[in-house]
Amino acid sequence: MLGRLAAQRLLEIRQVFRQLPQASRSFSTALNYHIDGPDNSPDLPWEFTEANKEKAKEIISHYPSNYKQSAVIPLLDLAQQQNGGWLPVSAMNHVAKVIEVAPIRVYEVATFYSMFNRTKVGKYHLLVCGTTPCMIRGSREIEDSLLKHLGVKRNEVTKDGLFSVGEMECMGSCVNAPMITVADYSNGSEGYTYDYYEDLTPKRVVEIVEAFRRGEKPPRGTQNSQRINSGPEGGNTSLLGEPKPPPCRDLDAC
Ligand code: FES
Repeated sequence: MLGRLAAQRLLEIRQVFRQLPQASRSFSTALNYHIDGPDNSPDLPWEFTEANKEKAKEIISHYPSNYKQSAVIPLLDLAQQQNGGWLPVSAMNHVAKVIEVAPIRVYEVATFYSMFNRTKVGKYHLLVCGTTPCMIRGSREIEDSLLKHLGVKRNEVTKDGLFSVGEMECMGSCVNAPMITVADYSNGSEGYTYDYYEDLTPKRVVEIVEAFRRGEKPPRGTQNSQRINSGPEGGNTSLLGEPKPPPCRDLDAC
């Protein structure tokens, strides 16, 4: 009885949090606690598929046998790919069993890293970089364009289950800001990809979403046809000739 009252109270608190105006920065897809639900409870069976059991063994073999727990991040990542982009508590419990640690050791990791989603995401989870260089180059407009086009709030999933939009810290592609990552969970762990789309505009990001909707894979990387990778727009401005050979330093050979 007491347990049910506590769960009810936590549910009320969660609803209050959800009604608050959206914080300007919010990472990951859930608050840092778990409440049992019909699709997320420790009683629901979950284990790696046969193919992923083999992958898990291979991952664990990279670590000394008395440090199996070091495999926690790649195993959570594999579990998330298998589970369509999110980690129910039973998947985390399974990972804890595989690496022989208490479940709390796995929960600590899954709640700390924003790449781990503990609520459902879309088949295509779109992560907008919100760190300073991308922000200065228009990441807010990119996110607004995505949210408006898809008719969702941040971390909500579209009704057809195809898309969700989240936010990430710098993904190391600042020179091609603004950028997003598309985590593609549409083909399970076998077909999983995590691709960068850079030099975006509010219009281009919508075109990319629509290409995914049609089942296409739009070309990743810079979306600015005037640039090669992260080179300057309009072509090189330095290193314009072939490199000269180094001066001869071996007097006998010169
Ligand atoms: S700030 Fe966006 S990739 Fe670095």
